[in-house]
Amino acid sequence: MTSLKEQLLKEITEPVSTGKNKITIVGVGQVGMACAFSILTSHVSNDVVLVDVMEDKLKGEMMDLQHGTAFLKNARINASTDYSATANSCMCVVTAGARQREGETRLDLVQRNTDIFKGIIPQLVKYSPNTILLIVSNPVDILTYVAWKLSGLPKNRVIGSGTNLDSARFRFLLSQKLQVAPTSCHGWIIGEHGDTSVPVWSGVNVAGVRLRDLNENVGTDKDEERWDDLHKQVVQSAYEVIRLKGYTSWAIGLSISNLASTILRNTNQVHAVSTLVTGLHDITEEVFLSVPCTLGEDGVTNIVRQKLTDEERQLLKKSATTMQAVQDGLKF
Ligand SMILES: NC(=O)c1ccc[n+]([C@@H]2O[C@H](COP(=O)([O-])OP(=O)(O)OC[C@H]3O[C@@H](n4cnc5c(N)ncnc54)[C@H](O)[C@@H]3O)[C@@H](O)[C@H]2O)c1
Repeated sequence: MTSLKEQLLKEITEPVSTGKNKITIVGVGQVGMACAFSILTSHVSNDVVLVDVMEDKLKGEMMDLQHGTAFLKNARINASTDYSATANSCMCVVTAGARQREGETRLDLVQRNTDIFKGIIPQLVKYSPNTILLIVSNPVDILTYVAWKLSGLPKNRVIGSGTNLDSARFRFLLSQKLQVAPTSCHGWIIGEHGDTSVPVWSGVNVAGVRLRDLNENVGTDKDEERWDDLHKQVVQSAYEVIRLKGYTSWAIGLSISNLASTILRNTNQVHAVSTLVTGLHDITEEVFLSVPCTLGEDGVTNIVRQKLTDEERQLLKKSATTMQAVQDGLKF
């Protein structure tokens, strides 16, 4: 008997996923779902696969998003605990793992999340050998190094979300103080995503006017206006949001969607992301830290050589030493 579908449609060929902008998101917790939601609603991808170990939660999140596909330009949303569903992803966003508990530092999480990564990264690369890995789980710089080691991918294809979020927080706080839009407040936070991040005060500017040219002490403790408090607030931001609502999600979701857009659309926009920095700014350690990078479909294509002050370079080197010390204690 001819089915209703056959009466309605004459099949010419089976529809397939092109994989052209397919994004896998591993971990459907608060962060993973905020990433998925931002990626879908900003139309960065119309082909998203979710992976997690919690089957019911995974299915529930998939169904909830699928029910909205009529409003998402008919995006394809799938979910599975089996990594074969992720095949041919051009990008894999990894948010799986334990999150910080109240008062816990990002570095405290490291061995727990390294062990989780051993079960995730090789599976992702097995099914998508040319993928770009975008690591979000904390401590993000060390886990990006771990993902690079576990994946065997070239360094340009393994990226940590790094201080893209810290820089956005900084620009928001500058905008509040100056009453100028965040996109017009230019400032970069580099180094570790976390407690030893480095604000590049020497370059902070609006329309090319450097705040340091107006006040040579800006960002130092000699400054009476205490602009350096803004960086302290950036460092405290995540702890404060976690204290208030239990986790952070929306801003990191938007930040990941923004990175994914640059990569998939191959725009060469500059973002502060975590990349292998050995040999840069006198760093000798094999560590991943954030510096401004141009991003495109091959991942990191260039690192911008910022003109840092001696103090900024020293702070960055201190971050590198901290990272290396933690990495030395890791059991792979
Ligand atoms: N880089 C950043 O700027 C940034 C910002 C916020 C949060 N984070 C980090 O993102 C991570 C996730 O945070 P969250 O709030 O979404 O946590 P969450 O606890 O809400 O979600 C974590 C998810 O990972 C899943 N998971 C655990 N082990 C897994 C495995 N082996 N395979 C697949 N999935 C697995 C869990 O089932 C859970 O659904 C944390 O490490 C957090 O610190 C990073």
